[in-house]
Amino acid sequence: MWKLKNEGIPVLNIFYEDSANTRLISIMSTLHKREEREYLQYLVKDTGERKIEVFIYEANIIHGYALKMLCEYCASIKIKVHVQKKTLHSYLLRCGIPSLLISRGSIQKEMNVPITQTIDAKDSAEQKIDSVTSEMEFTDELVDRFTEVVYSKYGFDFREYQKNSLKRRLQIFIRKGRIQDFHHIYEEVLENRENFENLMIDFPIRTTEFFRDSNVFKIIRNKILPYLDSYPSIKIWCSGCSTGEEPYSLAILLGEAGMLDKTHIYATDLNPNVVEEARNGMYGIETIQKGSENYTNSGGKNHFNDYFDIIGKCARIKHQYRNRILFFQHSLTNTGILNEFQLILCRNVLMYFNNSLQNKVLKLFNNSMDLSAFLLLGKSEGIQNNDGKDIFFAYDRENRIYRKKEILTGKENWLL
Ligand SMILES: C[S@@+](CC[C@H](N)C(=O)[O-])C[C@H]1O[C@@H](n2cnc3c(N)ncnc32)[C@H](O)[C@@H]1O
Repeated sequence: MWKLKNEGIPVLNIFYEDSANTRLISIMSTLHKREEREYLQYLVKDTGERKIEVFIYEANIIHGYALKMLCEYCASIKIKVHVQKKTLHSYLLRCGIPSLLISRGSIQKEMNVPITQTIDAKDSAEQKIDSVTSEMEFTDELVDRFTEVVYSKYGFDFREYQKNSLKRRLQIFIRKGRIQDFHHIYEEVLENRENFENLMIDFPIRTTEFFRDSNVFKIIRNKILPYLDSYPSIKIWCSGCSTGEEPYSLAILLGEAGMLDKTHIYATDLNPNVVEEARNGMYGIETIQKGSENYTNSGGKNHFNDYFDIIGKCARIKHQYRNRILFFQHSLTNTGILNEFQLILCRNVLMYFNNSLQNKVLKLFNNSMDLSAFLLLGKSEGIQNNDGKDIFFAYDRENRIYRKKEILTGKENWLL
């Protein structure tokens, strides 16, 4: 059995143990501390003939620089990565880093590590979801109770999401074995933070692409940016940014138009995991290939790969684009205004909300835009079936691009 030692650096959550052939490195953090990353680099570099096994515990995500290091070392030397959290496991795979998932039981047995339980003991009988109510039948009432408990226990507010979409997600999780059935949802998910985090990996659908719906980016490139260029400084909000491909696509366009330096992009999402991934700006090669096609279809003339540093099987968006984007967690269910923007993108997010929440969010956007700003929604979203038509008008209906009506006169600001 391996024993842990920490070289007398107690503040660092990194430990190692050498045997004749192997160096075993255990990491108990997200590596957001610079000293930890430096220590890891030192441990990985200086191993002599030994192969390396890295075990990462407790972290759902790791810092971009550490990820880059792993990518480089995975490509050049023998290194095996084991992770405890499913979230991190699927992220590493997407970045082209092969990793093995280890179970909590096997960790404790092999490593003799006391793992802290993060289960929140708080509970109340009335929150419990009836075990009588399963049979794969997700009634509206059951979904309501599920979302109420998720909200009160974890603070994520899905209470005004489309019920059918929530039911479909829950059904998929049962099919994938993430949860056993609705009988067990309380015990398996709501009482156990780790299981809840696993569910959150993709509970809110996170599908995205660079230059997704390339036609929309063509219009941003050819019509919207030339208009916005008249502003001395520009603020853009990319809401529901998922893993960052959308705000980085904007940053690339702004760079090509020579407008990046005068623009601030706020990129926000409900899901803290995708926000961290977005901030890291690391993508697998397949993502880049698809992005490259879309980029060309949007009228891009450069080599898409030139916007990235290629590291092993992974690509990292260049620093000058990462640098211009402020990523942070924010839920559209909170109605506070963030700033006054000239362009807001919120694509493929509203479709998951019920009408009442759509109306609140459209109002929030309206209050967060300057008079001549643009709002971009997703292909299957719009303002026809909600109150959006009272406060916005279609600039380009087909591509779901809207502008603000002058509220007092109801006028459409075509001349602006
Ligand atoms: C399908 S993705 C769309 C990503 C990107 N906008 C695009 O069109 O490619 C939807 C994103 O919206 C986020 N989302 C869902 N509910 C949200 C909320 N209440 N506030 C902010 N983001 C939310 C999800 O976490 C997910 O990353």
